[in-house]
Amino acid sequence: MPPSTTKPETVFKALADATRHRVLALLSRHELSVTELVEILRQPQSTVSRHLRVLRDAGLILDRRDGNTVLYSVASYRSDVDAPGGVNGSLTGRALAWVAEEPLIPPMAARLEEVMGRRREMSHRFFHRVGHHWDALREESFGTHFHLEAFLALLPPEWVVADIGTGTGYLLPTLARHFDRVIGVEPVERMLEAARRRTEYYGLNNVSLECGDLGQLPINETAVDLAIALLVLHHVPTPDEALKELFRVLRHDGCVLIVEQTAHQSESFRERMQDRWWGFEPPRLCSLLESVGFSRVRSRPLLHVDRAADAPELFVVTGRKTSKKEQPQ
Ligand SMILES: C[S@@+](CC[C@H](N)C(=O)[O-])C[C@H]1O[C@@H](n2cnc3c(N)ncnc32)[C@H](O)[C@@H]1O
Repeated sequence: MPPSTTKPETVFKALADATRHRVLALLSRHELSVTELVEILRQPQSTVSRHLRVLRDAGLILDRRDGNTVLYSVASYRSDVDAPGGVNGSLTGRALAWVAEEPLIPPMAARLEEVMGRRREMSHRFFHRVGHHWDALREESFGTHFHLEAFLALLPPEWVVADIGTGTGYLLPTLARHFDRVIGVEPVERMLEAARRRTEYYGLNNVSLECGDLGQLPINETAVDLAIALLVLHHVPTPDEALKELFRVLRHDGCVLIVEQTAHQSESFRERMQDRWWGFEPPRLCSLLESVGFSRVRSRPLLHVDRAADAPELFVVTGRKTSKKEQPQ
């Protein structure tokens, strides 16, 4: 968008120079720094800086900071008459497109390629040096889970999500960042209190917490798009009844996500966790889901390499609340 105060003569003057055309032609291909432009154009830095100033004042290029470097790019103008800036914007857009279409003279194109090649090499050289130490560096810098959280961005943010048996609300900050509305349900007051403190600490004003049980959830029928039960089902007295409750609160086409322990025989673990059930065989849990009406039921083992020596394997089960006639044949 040209600044509305830009005079036509400023724009025309800026465009009436062969070096500035080259600058625009280069910047329409890549965002470049002054140093890079100096190298490609083979002109003194003071000259390049002066041309950049003229182009920027005319609203033809933009600059932004990346650390200590200032990078320049061509301002974007649509070339149709409805473009922002009206006829002026459209005219400027056409002029810029015209200049950008001009082929670069071969030595300049080669130097531009050299600059881009060096950018690539810099990164490749770093990773060549780092090699397999990358994993440690990655975890040290960003932790172990950010990529998993990133996948949530694939789900519709307008979903209402219920975390049943939320415990201390471990999952709530992550869910609250991605979904418009989150409901945490927990029957044990002490856990609920911890979840409340967590939501307050993170200022999660799209999370509501309810005291309730999977036997009878304090959620209306078809109110939820995604119902999550992480490590909860092996604590409930009647898992099949609990699944019916999850089914009830889901809207049509809503999803259920259950993470469970596989059936195990570790006395020490069960004693420590006071589990009601010794976990589930994935196929059995899948058929329980199907028997209450879920479709597209799938289970997958979870690879969690950092589990305790006596902890059971975990698996995830997902399903949909679709009617039978909508299921793929
Ligand atoms: C192992 S914790 C998991 C907590 C949380 N989902 C997490 O992943 O950190 C199990 C939670 O389920 C809750 N719970 C136990 N029985 C339940 C029931 N019948 N209905 C709902 N939640 C229940 C417990 O109070 C506890 O907070």
